[in-house]
Amino acid sequence: MTATVNDAIAALERGDLIHLPTETVYGLGARADDPSAVAKVFEAKGRPKFNPLIVHVASFEAAEAIGVFDDRARTLAQAFWPGPLTLVVPIKDTTKVCDLARAGLDSVAIRVPSHPMALAILQGFGGGVVAPSANRSGRPSPTRFEDAMLETGVSVAASVDGGDCQVGLESTVVSALSDVRYLRPGAITRAQIEAVVGDLAQDASEGHRSPGRLSLHYAPDAPVEINIDNPPMDCVYLAFGETGFRGPVLNLSPTRNLSEAAASLFTYLRKADALNPTRICVAPIPTDGLGEAINDRLKRAAGFVG
Ligand code: TXA
Ligand code: MG
Repeated sequence: MTATVNDAIAALERGDLIHLPTETVYGLGARADDPSAVAKVFEAKGRPKFNPLIVHVASFEAAEAIGVFDDRARTLAQAFWPGPLTLVVPIKDTTKVCDLARAGLDSVAIRVPSHPMALAILQGFGGGVVAPSANRSGRPSPTRFEDAMLETGVSVAASVDGGDCQVGLESTVVSALSDVRYLRPGAITRAQIEAVVGDLAQDASEGHRSPGRLSLHYAPDAPVEINIDNPPMDCVYLAFGETGFRGPVLNLSPTRNLSEAAASLFTYLRKADALNPTRICVAPIPTDGLGEAINDRLKRAAGFVG
């Protein structure tokens, strides 16, 4: 039942899921550059929300190929990597981390874990690996191999047993965009960060807000209308399943496959917008499974959720 480091590398290359043992918690890993692979992560977690995911890499050099590191970000990386610190920086190369993994943001969260098996997998694979905690949604994060198997074993092609996680809670998330902000408390304390970059701006809501829910709605320039069965001719239509529409169509999934639609969603909103339509109309999408997250994102794009 337990996979080797090489099995995990092969699974990542195929676009399949792995269990990635890290020093914080077990991750549910997929290659970051492939939206179909990333969609499998959301699907396996159940009741998914398309929060942006952390991209794991083997070294600071690999991180620099993905994101833009200013002096403060570089200093933080040098102080705490490899280790349980995630840094949010501007995205440099969008081909390395797909839109779905970033939830359409122009920033990216990156970390270099310290677990030797995680490093061996990331080194061997070469690219970035997204990995949220390997639990199903709403359940505690797995910190033991057996728990990871219980939670998401059925969805995973290669489960690597790295023993018990030494940190046991998720990494600290620090944003290094305009000011340095402490977004998610974790093993690296606020004081440890301040010792490296000076006092952080105080923000009363910090620590309580979910960064995953902040300013995420990918808002195309064209207005978005959802649940449209009979689109007008002046729109670009995002179809789901067969359509008789004679105007411009981008089909999220001709076979009505939610995983495929999730993988195409952010990219197709962008493509539709690039055609400069009067509006973008989207077919009704079922609300079960991955459809819940797809509808959540679409409602945000249509302006129904703040
Ligand atoms: O310890 C960990 O960090 C574990 C292990 C497996 O490495 N991974 C983990 O990943 O907890 P995930 O994807 O569940 O954590 C995502 C966190 C969320 O709080 C999310 O909102 C934040 O990172 N995040 C990701 N991208 C962001 C961005 N561009 N801006 C702000 N926050 C971001
Ligand atoms: Mg989690």
